Amino acid sequence: MSKPCEAPIGSAPASDQIILALDVNGANEARSIVKEIAGRIGAFKIGLQLFTAAGPSFVREMTSAGHKVFLDLKFHDIPNTVASAAVEAARMGVWMFNVHAMGGSNMMRRTVEEVNEACAREKLARPLIIAVTVLTSVGDDDLAEVGFETTAGDSAVRLATIAAASGLDGVVASPLEAAAIRSTVANKDFVIVTPGIRRASATKDDQRRVNTFRQALANGSTYTVIGRPILSAADRIAAINDICSE
Ligand code: C5P
Repeated sequence: MSKPCEAPIGSAPASDQIILALDVNGANEARSIVKEIAGRIGAFKIGLQLFTAAGPSFVREMTSAGHKVFLDLKFHDIPNTVASAAVEAARMGVWMFNVHAMGGSNMMRRTVEEVNEACAREKLARPLIIAVTVLTSVGDDDLAEVGFETTAGDSAVRLATIAAASGLDGVVASPLEAAAIRSTVANKDFVIVTPGIRRASATKDDQRRVNTFRQALANGSTYTVIGRPILSAADRIAAINDICSE
């Protein structure tokens, strides 16, 4: 199957850096999108909507079929609860999952330790564990409202530094912060996943800290999460091509 956004021989196409957000309301719709798009992007993201509708059995169906799944449940709870949920995520065979960095370094460290132990003990593939910094829908005014005295950008870099020091593999951040995070975190393999991707001419929907796909990669993103700009397109394959080539 030919991939959109063809790359020079020997290098992966840029579209491999797209994680498609399966933000739909049930397994049947998700299955038909996966059938249409599989092989044309890097991975699929199962978030709160689809997980609440279709549950762990759909996650297992996807991982058993060999699809790379980013389980985006943004765990945020006490360390024991998050670490235990994280072990269950690993048991589902997901490629990557996330926690909220705002849950603190104790929670993140314990999650990494318990997932490492469970994966070694049960011979599971160890998923990437990444932390949400500041949601891309949140702006400086929202943070000020809840008592933060730093901007969204500064808070994201600070939370990314804490996540890296706690042993996490990467973060979710806005494409606008990717460059600052890349230059602050010493680990060059630190994964930076950026939602909030929009074409220059497009609507932002409820996103606020947005950028284009190419600019996000230029800023240091490892992967971009894209939902509505592909899901709502009349021709989804053409939308992937347009997003990559802008
Ligand atoms: O439709 P759109 O491209 O805005 O979708 C972005 C996806 O990324 C959504 O599934 C949303 O939950 C997710 N996300 C985000 N901001 C974060 C973390 C995840 O928008 N910080």
